[in-house]
Amino acid sequence: MKETINRLTAEASGLELNAAGREELQKQALSLSHRFFESIDENPAYKPFDDRELEAILEQPLDEIGEPAETVFQTAEHQVFEPGLNVPSGRNFGYIPGSSLETAAIGDYLAAVTNRYASVYSSSPGAVLLEQRLINWMANLIGYGKTSGGYLASGGSIANLTAVVTARDNAGLSPSDYSNSVVYLTRQTHHCVDRALNIAGLGTCQRRYIEMDDLFRMKPDALENQILQDARDGLIPFMIVASAGSTDTGAVDPLPEIGHIAKKNNIWFHVDAAYGGFFLMVKEGKAAMKGVEMSDSVVLDPHKGLFLPYGIGALIVKDVNKLAEAHSFTANYMQDSRAEKQIYSPADISPELSKHFRAMRMWLPLKLHGLKIFRSALQEKLLLALYLWGQFREIKQIETGSEPQLSIFIFRWIPKSGNPNEMNRKLHQELLKDGRVFLSTTEIDGIFYFRVAVLSVRTHLAEADMLISVIKEKISELEA
Ligand SMILES: Cc1ncc(COP(=O)(O)O)c(C=O)c1O
Repeated sequence: MKETINRLTAEASGLELNAAGREELQKQALSLSHRFFESIDENPAYKPFDDRELEAILEQPLDEIGEPAETVFQTAEHQVFEPGLNVPSGRNFGYIPGSSLETAAIGDYLAAVTNRYASVYSSSPGAVLLEQRLINWMANLIGYGKTSGGYLASGGSIANLTAVVTARDNAGLSPSDYSNSVVYLTRQTHHCVDRALNIAGLGTCQRRYIEMDDLFRMKPDALENQILQDARDGLIPFMIVASAGSTDTGAVDPLPEIGHIAKKNNIWFHVDAAYGGFFLMVKEGKAAMKGVEMSDSVVLDPHKGLFLPYGIGALIVKDVNKLAEAHSFTANYMQDSRAEKQIYSPADISPELSKHFRAMRMWLPLKLHGLKIFRSALQEKLLLALYLWGQFREIKQIETGSEPQLSIFIFRWIPKSGNPNEMNRKLHQELLKDGRVFLSTTEIDGIFYFRVAVLSVRTHLAEADMLISVIKEKISELEA
């Protein structure tokens, strides 16, 4: 048996790199990342692709014997990284633009190399405390006190799901109550909340889409009237979901008014600030999101507002015990993980057990760069959105939505002839073919709009001006 083990050990030994192998692989990976960053300003924001050509990836063999690093990196560079949306491009104004701070990437690398067990205090106290430090910082940004807590999730959708589950259990709902329970939102609420309700077993609950004002914000009067009506009808109002920066239009619901209504009626008040949350770091954002501290829970996405790569969201809850109650478990094999110390491990207050050591990718950039630089970047994005909105208003063929409340606004081309929706769709196709800038679109009340979302760390005045000139150019080509 020992002989066989020794033979297998020898065969498997290549999985652990020796110093020279590690150095060589790191050199190649770093050179790829160097090429990526050095060419990002020249490369398109969007590269059109041929589905059939790309399907070759599906045919790529996964051989018994590994291939040389150059070949593998080449495949990644050309077939994987190039086609489609170049997320970290400064000319990406689509969806909620992602970024990719290099300091976060290095944090990820170190997190993966050390593979600390960030879920359980007794295994990796440092990693758990680091996450706790970041949670406390975000709780402080929101204005929550010492009873608050939370966890680092993979993104906004899962963080919102965790909030829905917590609100459900806080209300003491049992399955027989689900179809009589009511959640209040608007048509601008991110679709992940609707999905979260379904996943949480609340598919049959009553969803009340509250009327909005001209700026796509929930109308508090309409909300209160609906709650009172539902209570009179014997239903169970249990959760209000407000947006602090909706995806479509960047609208911030009137949080103080909603907060009062929630308190008066004893309803869980959740704020989805996945997009807008980190604008709390600057005074304009703080003013726009006044009242967020009245909420019971908030979602913020560091992979949006802190410019980190995808894979990190945060749920912060005013009373961390509620989060723990909703995620309690028993498992004999976890008996060693129950630390004496009075601290919740992420595994105690979230649906995850083993998880990526996410705190490292957030802590490292915050520590290395300091907070001031983030405030400047966030303030820059707010101003760039305002600047772009002003510039778009000057273009006579363009109709803009209202002034951005944060860093998103909508616009559409009003063509001289033809169906406006179809013509704008055509304009979008032309923009995709061109690829210098990337915009995503939406439909509001049957009208097709472009959305301009400014949140890439690499978007500055030059990129904003490029957006304007490409739009003008494409409109005049289509009008010709
Ligand atoms: C307001 C809002 N909430 C939730 C989400 C979902 O977040 P994620 O994509 O991180 O799951 C998004 C995504 O854009 C969002 O804009």
